[in-house]
Amino acid sequence: MTKAKGKLFIKTFGCQMNVYDSERMGEALAGAGYVSTDSPENADLVILNTCHIREKAAEKVYSELGRLKKIKTAREKEGHGTTIAVAGCVAQAEGREILARAPVVDLVVGPQSYHRMGDLISRTGQERDGIIDIDFPEDDKFKHLPARPSASRAPSAFLTVQEGCDKFCTFCVVPYTRGIEYSRPVCEIIEEAERLVQAGVREITLLGQNVNAYHGEGGKSEPWSLAQLLRALAEIPELLRLRYTTSHPRDMSEDLIALHGQEEKLMPYLHLPFQAGSDRVLAAMNRKHTREEYLELVKRIRIARPDMALSTDIIVGFPGESDDEFARTMEMVRQVEFAQAYSFKFSARPGTPAAAMEDQVADEVKSARLQELQVLLSAQQAAFNASCVGRRFSVLFERPGRRTGQLVGRSPYLQAVHADGHESLIGSMIEVEILGAGPNSLEADIVNGAKSAVIAAE
Ligand code: 5AD
Ligand code: SF4
Repeated sequence: MTKAKGKLFIKTFGCQMNVYDSERMGEALAGAGYVSTDSPENADLVILNTCHIREKAAEKVYSELGRLKKIKTAREKEGHGTTIAVAGCVAQAEGREILARAPVVDLVVGPQSYHRMGDLISRTGQERDGIIDIDFPEDDKFKHLPARPSASRAPSAFLTVQEGCDKFCTFCVVPYTRGIEYSRPVCEIIEEAERLVQAGVREITLLGQNVNAYHGEGGKSEPWSLAQLLRALAEIPELLRLRYTTSHPRDMSEDLIALHGQEEKLMPYLHLPFQAGSDRVLAAMNRKHTREEYLELVKRIRIARPDMALSTDIIVGFPGESDDEFARTMEMVRQVEFAQAYSFKFSARPGTPAAAMEDQVADEVKSARLQELQVLLSAQQAAFNASCVGRRFSVLFERPGRRTGQLVGRSPYLQAVHADGHESLIGSMIEVEILGAGPNSLEADIVNGAKSAVIAAE
């Protein structure tokens, strides 16, 4: 048995890839003797896994470090030491600046160095000035992280298959913080998926900043595409559902589109950012697609899978965006009709080309545009949810709900679904009828009554 090293608290900011990385760090540190705790007040090691995508996200880290400083001082008075580590994209982008701005930090570790975390932490006691590891090593960090534990886990899991991005959209920090595109080899992914399934996972979401550009080593021949990888994963019998995110319109290949019409395990939900509706803005963003190309792509996807629910990311107030150009974004949203969307005010990120562009849009203008856009997007989401009432579909129940006797799961279109049912249904795909729709979730009844469904699940 590994000797207990202390209690670990990880706080995750940002995207699903950070959620995945935090899980892997937690598992590796559990192997090294750390036990997780859900409050920083009693943690010997605190890791902030950070996000640098917008200014607000990065600033949150510093306010959290302010809180942690107080906790560390209070713990010191009681004779306990606290090691504080900053991981993730702020660590990568700001490195030494973090130690200068927040001396309470003991360790700064970039996303490519998580497999060295244990060693780095054990060195923190000896180095007074803090330790920084933000290299981009040649080697694959995943190869050096311990295999996923077989202890039972929740029915839905993330699995990172690709990291980094070569697209260099002019507003985005990802190519700088996560590095160039890298795809994990097929065999490593399949092995990890099989372990997850053995631990009770029934749905896997493949993750990558540019997941549909996946081209992993697959053995003898050419690298495998994402469609090939999805087909292989669909052969794992107990794996019931597959999803992937985030996709770039340029990498939506014909085989991947076709797969949506062929593979039942592949869910009819696609997150496909378009960012802006004007071709001038798209070119200035270096998006590598036009408005028409995106709309054409949506048509082709809907031919392959008519019930595909689409989600997107949109930025308002990119430098130079005029009222007319913003109106093109609104028009585009009306044309596509999204089931869900994320929208943001442009945030100038240090070191990106867009931060240095002239004609930065005033914050009041950005706020007004964002509000107008969000009213439209919320109405579309509510309309999509309402259109599901009366339909039947399978739900993968994931956890108990807030109310006793209630379960929460996901529809094929990624909506949260609440229904009354026995806890033994968690981890099963159950047919439900949708009775009601709210802005963010659906209410459902289990078809044939909860009792027979329990028997079916056993
Ligand atoms: N400002 C605002 N939004 C941004 N995003 C990425 N960079 C910025 C930025 N500088 C948004 C994009 C991307 C999502 C993850 O975050 O819409 O798709
Ligand atoms: Fe960033 Fe996505 Fe553009 Fe890559 S494709 S640079 S991750 S917005």
